[in-house]
Amino acid sequence: MKFWSLFTNVLVLSLARADDDTDTVVRWSSTGGGWRAMFACVGFANVFQQAGLMSEDSSLFSAIATNSGASWFLVQLFYSQAFYDQTVMAESPEDLYNFTMQWMGTYEAFALEVVPNGTDINEALGIDLAALHTGTEREQFEYNVVTQLSEFWGLYYNSNASWAHFVDTMLSRATDELGHKGVFADIQANPENRIPALQSTDMLIQSTLAPGSKIRLGPHRGTGTTTTEEELSEEFEFEFEDEYYDPAEKWNYLKPLFGDIDNQDLMVYLGPLVQEGEENATNWALYSVGISTAYIVNDTFAGFQYSTFDSPSSTELATYVSPTSRFWKWNDWESYYLWPNEGFWTLPTPNATARIDQDLVEQYKSQAVNMTSTGTLAPPFGGGAASVIQAASISSAAAGPLSPAAPTLFAQALSLQRQKVRDGLETDTDLAAVAGLTAYDLAAGDIYKNGVFDDFSVCSQWPNPCGPADGQFLDGAFSDNPSVAINVAQYHQTGGDLSKTMKLVLTNTNQDLVPGSYDTDQILQYFDCSFNHDVSPGDYVWLPGFVVPYRSPQIFEETLTVGDFIIAVQPMEDSNMSTAILYGTTIDNAAFGVQAGQSVEILVINTNTPITTFIAGATIIEMQMEPLAAMVQDIASSQELVARVKDFLGILEENENGEEISRSKAGEAENVDKPDSGEEPNVGMTLRSTSDAGTSRALCPLWAVGLLCSGYLLLV
Ligand SMILES: *[C@@H]1O[C@H](CO)[C@@H](O)[C@H](O)[C@H]1NC(C)=O
Ligand SMILES: *[C@@H]1O[C@H](CO)[C@@H](O)[C@H](O)[C@H]1NC(C)=O
Ligand SMILES: *[C@@H]1O[C@H](CO)[C@@H](O)[C@H](O)[C@H]1NC(C)=O
Ligand SMILES: *[C@@H]1O[C@H](CO)[C@@H](O)[C@H](O)[C@H]1NC(C)=O
Ligand SMILES: *[C@@H]1O[C@H](CO)[C@@H](O)[C@H](O)[C@H]1NC(C)=O
Ligand SMILES: *[C@@H]1O[C@H](CO)[C@@H](O)[C@H](O)[C@H]1NC(C)=O
Ligand SMILES: *[C@@H]1O[C@H](CO)[C@@H](O)[C@H](O)[C@H]1NC(C)=O
Ligand SMILES: *[C@@H]1O[C@H](CO)[C@@H](O)[C@H](O)[C@H]1NC(C)=O
Repeated sequence: MKFWSLFTNVLVLSLARADDDTDTVVRWSSTGGGWRAMFACVGFANVFQQAGLMSEDSSLFSAIATNSGASWFLVQLFYSQAFYDQTVMAESPEDLYNFTMQWMGTYEAFALEVVPNGTDINEALGIDLAALHTGTEREQFEYNVVTQLSEFWGLYYNSNASWAHFVDTMLSRATDELGHKGVFADIQANPENRIPALQSTDMLIQSTLAPGSKIRLGPHRGTGTTTTEEELSEEFEFEFEDEYYDPAEKWNYLKPLFGDIDNQDLMVYLGPLVQEGEENATNWALYSVGISTAYIVNDTFAGFQYSTFDSPSSTELATYVSPTSRFWKWNDWESYYLWPNEGFWTLPTPNATARIDQDLVEQYKSQAVNMTSTGTLAPPFGGGAASVIQAASISSAAAGPLSPAAPTLFAQALSLQRQKVRDGLETDTDLAAVAGLTAYDLAAGDIYKNGVFDDFSVCSQWPNPCGPADGQFLDGAFSDNPSVAINVAQYHQTGGDLSKTMKLVLTNTNQDLVPGSYDTDQILQYFDCSFNHDVSPGDYVWLPGFVVPYRSPQIFEETLTVGDFIIAVQPMEDSNMSTAILYGTTIDNAAFGVQAGQSVEILVINTNTPITTFIAGATIIEMQMEPLAAMVQDIASSQELVARVKDFLGILEENENGEEISRSKAGEAENVDKPDSGEEPNVGMTLRSTSDAGTSRALCPLWAVGLLCSGYLLLV
């Protein structure tokens, strides 16, 4: 320990110079993964401190981008000195163990306080949620949405049935307990409020903006019984009461749109800004998959950017409203890229900004007819900086696809599950098939008309209600879990020098690394790989088995196969973790705002820790807090990881004679240098491995034990 800390001071100075004067940009991206992700990042931050990347008063990362649970970590890191001191600057791995136990203890106390013990969600709601679940996955806790929701139910319901409110309470209590000065939840996530050590590091929070959202005009929490016109008018006043909207006037303006006000809600659609001269078009270009969103804080700016750089604006989106049925009908959403894209539903739109064609307008009249422009998306959260809670909750709304307030993603997610129900049924028992599907559709319909799940996604004005120019945010996993594309894009969008090499540390806070599952797909997706080979960067991609489709975040020209990736993975002797180094050259991805020509080296660090993602509910918190604390301690204790991080960054180590040597030079014989891409056209990808391939392959069966994670990721 002492050795490394001594050494650290020297490194900070030399690397700081290096970042300014030489050709390296250093960044960090992290996947989500609930509480496992949050605490894995605590361990990694401490490792980066040991490696000289972060210190008491500075950080060499020019930006850190995170998703979901890792974003809970990130807002605390940037905006709580007490958190930074007790994690990054912790003196020993044992301190981090205790820190984790304390944080989770506070969370458990919150859980026990609001809900003495678990409640059966099926009973509480009167909805057969089990019908939404396929048989094979029902056995597995991790992917069993019913078990997870039951655990979470009491906590959620007593958090005003609002994900953002839940995140607010959890983070507020934990930061209070760890000694944060002042009220954490009151902090605006702006440039000035960043703690001193992170004043020159940009904060990027990954989220997903739903392409369409629904404003419930009927009862908010209830059974979806229909309302009178008078009640509807009152609802409008309640819903639209904000500065962008004059309730009385807008009511008059929108009222003529409704053909059947007793059974309709208001749908808000997002599209690219309308080009000049297209104002009177009879069809509109609309987005139909989740839009990758970055909440960005840098030295001069705090605000939102969307992966719509291929349209006239990445900060403004066009908004339209129309009446929509209050009840669930699959064919209302047929034009939104439902699974399986052929046969049962036809593939409607060839790319992410396709227009609704005239014949489709006829076919899907109930939605497209009476569609009216309401201008542009109101700046989220009133404009300017979001609060730390708003930033943390929009990134982590993992149950969002079950929110009826985001009907397009709801339809996409449930269409895939529905197909699994179909596939899982025995073909010779048609009655069972019909019964299974009917149960499925009834459950979907019950959820849809019951407002209790609406706030699984987060309104872009939370805690204020959404109006006709607002949208819903969901977990960033529904557009890019490892948050790499927004990280690279932000460098390119702020005048970054593409001739510099970017060294990106990607912490994959995973449970397991199952080849060919989402575990590996989410990393392969940045390269040319099997499932995006025929998809242009920015166009639709549906990762095999993933919950929803999204715009392809491919940003590298090189090909990467699962096999190549797995062979690059080096296990560690002192830990469950493994690392891999990948090399990419950026290509243009006009949607994400990534430009061609920059070399990016990625150090992937996998946690490989089998702790469930969804730790919500007193029983599971009690069960998982010790394993979480052990994981953090394990990460922070790994001197092998410290060494690999330093090696990757070219940080010099001292040899026995006190001479500085680079590990890669020292182990030259073991390293495979970047092959000439001309010689290996099909690989392109460069893999550097100090382990022999035999070891990696021997570990494969172990990974495979985790079984296909590719299934159900509604709860990431
Ligand atoms: C961690 O907590 C335990 C129990 O409270 C305590 O005995 C121990 O000294 C603590 N360890 C450190 C390093 O503070
Ligand atoms: C939660 O609900 C209660 C009762 O409706 C309300 O008074 C309170 O303001 C709500 N809190 C938030 C943060 O929405
Ligand atoms: C569209 O508006 C007209 C009135 O302008 C109404 O008669 C018709 O029912 C509306 N269509 C739908 C689907 O709401
Ligand atoms: C759109 O329609 C309005 C009213 O009919 C008309 O004044 C305007 O010139 C039209 N715009 C274009 C671009 O055709
Ligand atoms: C901060 O981000 C904004 C928006 O991307 C950009 O316009 C501005 O140049 C950035 N400022 C710095 C100092 O990078
Ligand atoms: C997207 O689809 C529309 C037709 O629906 C087509 O006109 C347009 O060229 C397509 N854009 C791309 C980038 O392929
Ligand atoms: C390492 O992985 C094994 C196998 O999945 C697991 O049993 C063990 O608990 C893990 N250890 C840690 C510290 O996570
Ligand atoms: C909740 O109740 C079950 C049995 O009813 C019990 O096994 C479990 O330990 C309880 N959980 C907590 C956190 O008290």
